[in-house]
Amino acid sequence: MHYKKTLLFLVFISFLFNCKNEEKISSEVLIIPQPSEQTINKGSFTLNASTGIQYDDDFKISAEFLKSYIEEGSNIKLVGSNDISFIKDDTLADEGYSLEILPNTIQIKAKTDQGAFYAVQSLRQLLPVEFENASYSKDKIVIPFVTIKDKPKFIYRGMHLDVARHMFSVDFIKKYIDALAMLKMNTFHWHLTDDQGWRIEIKQYPRLQEVSAYRNETLVGHYSDQPHQFDGKKYGGFYTQEEIKEVVAYAQSRFVTVIPEIEMPGHAQAAIAAYPELGCTGEQVKVAQKWGVFEDIFCPNQKTFAFLEDVLEEVLDLFPSEYIHIGGDEAPKTRWKNCDHCQALIKKEGLKDEHELQSYFISRIEAYLNSKGRQIIGWDEILEGGLAPNATVMSWRGVTGAVEAAKQHHNVIMTPTSHCYFDYYQSENDDEPIAIGGFLPLEKVYSFNPIPEELNEEESKFILGAQGNIWTEYIKTSEHVEYMAFPRIFAMSEVVWSKLEHKNYADFVKRVENFHKRLDALSINYANHLYEIEGELLSDDNGLRYQLQTLTNGKTIRFTLDGSEPTVNSEAYTKPIPITESVSIKASVFNSDKKLGTTFSQDINLHKAVGKKITINKEPHKSYPGSGAEGLVNGISGSDSRYGDKEWLGFWGEDIEITIDLGEETEINSIETRFHNGQGQWIYAPKSIIFSFSDEKQQFSIVPNPSEKSILDLKIPKKLTTSFIKINVYNYGIIPEGKQGAGNKAWTFIDEIIVN
Ligand code: ACM
Ligand code: ZN
Repeated sequence: MHYKKTLLFLVFISFLFNCKNEEKISSEVLIIPQPSEQTINKGSFTLNASTGIQYDDDFKISAEFLKSYIEEGSNIKLVGSNDISFIKDDTLADEGYSLEILPNTIQIKAKTDQGAFYAVQSLRQLLPVEFENASYSKDKIVIPFVTIKDKPKFIYRGMHLDVARHMFSVDFIKKYIDALAMLKMNTFHWHLTDDQGWRIEIKQYPRLQEVSAYRNETLVGHYSDQPHQFDGKKYGGFYTQEEIKEVVAYAQSRFVTVIPEIEMPGHAQAAIAAYPELGCTGEQVKVAQKWGVFEDIFCPNQKTFAFLEDVLEEVLDLFPSEYIHIGGDEAPKTRWKNCDHCQALIKKEGLKDEHELQSYFISRIEAYLNSKGRQIIGWDEILEGGLAPNATVMSWRGVTGAVEAAKQHHNVIMTPTSHCYFDYYQSENDDEPIAIGGFLPLEKVYSFNPIPEELNEEESKFILGAQGNIWTEYIKTSEHVEYMAFPRIFAMSEVVWSKLEHKNYADFVKRVENFHKRLDALSINYANHLYEIEGELLSDDNGLRYQLQTLTNGKTIRFTLDGSEPTVNSEAYTKPIPITESVSIKASVFNSDKKLGTTFSQDINLHKAVGKKITINKEPHKSYPGSGAEGLVNGISGSDSRYGDKEWLGFWGEDIEITIDLGEETEINSIETRFHNGQGQWIYAPKSIIFSFSDEKQQFSIVPNPSEKSILDLKIPKKLTTSFIKINVYNYGIIPEGKQGAGNKAWTFIDEIIVN
């Protein structure tokens, strides 16, 4: 009797434990990128020392990855029989898989080893994070019963890294590739050459290693800071061919294709510094020491083509990728216009202009690479002067290039600056590390749809996928690369992998928050802006109110209106705050009494135009809509460096007319506004601005000085009485030769219009 009771008690206890365990484990499966289909069933599979793994050569890479992930991550050795099995299923998509955790087995089905590898990456995210840094010390793992059926949306799922402006170790490149593979991305675009450094060993040209790989010094601070200052330190290095082979093999073992980029004809100053005969002037130039676009580009002469074919020959031996990226962006035509050889070649080949000469250049290189069984990718400038016959276009200057190329039935990879440039700021916090400019928060990356709306279904098939780009002018360390990549790479992984109909930002954020501990275990230095606060001024029948929100659930926002730092005793936010005078709002997110993230602050300036009716005769560009016209009179100014935030409105190459209806004759003393002047990003202060009022005689205009300042402040002291303010803003026009983006329309970015 006594024995029976004890047994009953033990059964009961173990039932309780199991329930608790199962409940805790199986309640949520949080995988990034979101799988196509997943179901969670009650119960769990226990993996321990009696578990075994069974696979044949078809699944060698994926099965061995899983085996070593488990064995190296814990004390568990998979010495049992066939509990984990890899099964070939030719009905699945090439990169697709199914993963089933069943009572006595884990079944992975795939058509290819790559598909099975992605099953393993999903399974990995079901395991405790301690496996990532070999700190799992228990002798078993409990895995919930889950069924996942999954396949990617796009075949090209990439990340880029610029190692020319700053260089990163082979170990770091491998870590970066590991991260891509974990997120089921399959392409690493390695930007190996640029004006500031040539980073790939080419044995036939030793001066590329001796000269082109090093610059004498580097710009300090931001390009917009004047005057330019330099650090006086030699900087550089290159990857040996052995190192490159090691990286390519490493990537292959994770189903990541490495696409090398060898820039031509522009961004070639480092090569020309070593071999001046490759340029038009033959004059000695230096490896570039600051950022931007440089006029010394490859001259399309015999020496250049011989050089490039020699270089590419070695490149092809190192990189088995079908695609070779040949650059093609930002090649000023100044030198070509003044070069006898170039002009004679234009005549001889019957070309119209220097753009067609660029097209001739790229087509020649394409013919060479096609003859070796390879294809080219080029930045969207390769459309100018006509596309090379088989080229794939990488669309970065918005999506116009993508639309044009797809309509010509050329393949396209999407990487528009507005959604894919991870060198842009990701937060409005003032303590962010210095960045090139722009503003690309996580949510904007997540909102990206690689298929431009201008394309029909047939044309959309030419969109192969998308990638995030990390240009490193302002990124010196691998920790900083990680900071810029994470968490935005999560959003990109979902953009290219997951179904559109599954997109849900709040759900995504929950999975990102959950992933933080895995990133900690992987020693990845991610940015965490999840506990930031977003504010919005509401203007309706209830008057002006300020709304505060934070992304993550179950937290409390506390705020102050007197400029003091919020504490656990500050007022808890429950509903929008009425705004009846100019205030300084500060707010923080608290998890019970622990403050998370940084303090949010917002000054609201209730000037005379706030909440008044405003119209603009053009829509802002859809990549930079700010918060619409109303955002220019909402009492809130934009950030100094993040011209893409909610407060700045961007217009591309258009003149605009803004009208503010003050409702009644109003006495005004001044009008202030700001224009961004970030020439590196093609943003220019307007050519002129005309202000008009009720009294026509009061009209006057301003012609901005092409200012060195990155923000042009205008203050118009004007005491008058008027019922409206009309502002005509005339776009700068076409960007002049020698400047970044030469020949393109300039952008205009305008901030709050403050009327006092
Ligand atoms: C680029 O950002 N110049 C492709
Ligand atoms: Zn020339």
